[in-house]
Amino acid sequence: MESNAPPGQNPGSRPITPPDLTVMKRRDQLIAMVTAYDAPSARLAEAAGMDCLLVGDSAAMTVLGHDSTVHVTVDEMLLFTRAVARSVRRPLVIADLPFGSFQVSDRAAVKTAIRFVKDGGAHAVKLEGAGSSLSRVEAIVAAGVPVMGHVGLTPQTAVALGGYRAQGRTARSAHRLRDDAVALERAGCFAVVLEAMPAEVAARITETLAIPTIGIGAGADCDGQVLVWHDLLGLSSGHLPVFVKRYADLGDVTLSALQAYVSDVRARRFPEDRHTYSMIDGESARLRGQADELVGHADKR
Ligand code: KIV
Repeated sequence: MESNAPPGQNPGSRPITPPDLTVMKRRDQLIAMVTAYDAPSARLAEAAGMDCLLVGDSAAMTVLGHDSTVHVTVDEMLLFTRAVARSVRRPLVIADLPFGSFQVSDRAAVKTAIRFVKDGGAHAVKLEGAGSSLSRVEAIVAAGVPVMGHVGLTPQTAVALGGYRAQGRTARSAHRLRDDAVALERAGCFAVVLEAMPAEVAARITETLAIPTIGIGAGADCDGQVLVWHDLLGLSSGHLPVFVKRYADLGDVTLSALQAYVSDVRARRFPEDRHTYSMIDGESARLRGQADELVGHADKR
């Protein structure tokens, strides 16, 4: 029998849909989201009970080694999205529309969004900004693809914002953020990411909207939280924003494991017998006999 509990609170339940997230908000059930870019991370996130997986364009930096998110292409994002979407059943899979793939026109935005659903297997897309993004949201939603908005620090336009810094720290800019979030809701978004802003500002936006807010560096009063996979697990290098909590140091664990492997290979400690195939009974003797015969032939020549 189908459970009445919101899917996010019930690990065995049906796939999560955008309206489920609004129900969770109404019931004060917090939404857990993490980025994922490949099959193993997607499977682990689902097993952990994650409600939403964001195939974030942060992949440009975390996976592809770029210094900003703007370099990732649609084809690269599609590859990550397919790997995630085919590996999970229950979480909502949201694909980030990369920089340049939706800014030019509503038509281009709809085309890209449809590719992420048809070719990528995503359930929804996310796009950054308000302003000109609003008509993109309307057009994509009208085409039948659910859209998640993203305001505050929007990494694709970080240069224009003066760098990777918190937004909405003055009353005026806080009002602007709230207006942007409201406009995104009106344009048809099913949820909005609030990135890098004072908790007070995020709380006001969360109170104002009927759709859920998902915070990253936006305090505890959002309707859900998102973190980048590599940050959460201690796999990223360089400066970490203040809002990141590291739940594990997998970078250190991985490094020790790799060092142990290198030294085992060099000392011939790996592979051991138990990692090695043996021949079928009797075949080893036959092989040796044939080898002796070959040596005999060679000697006669
Ligand atoms: O690309 C990403 O990982 C994101 C999150 C930071 C929300 O957009």
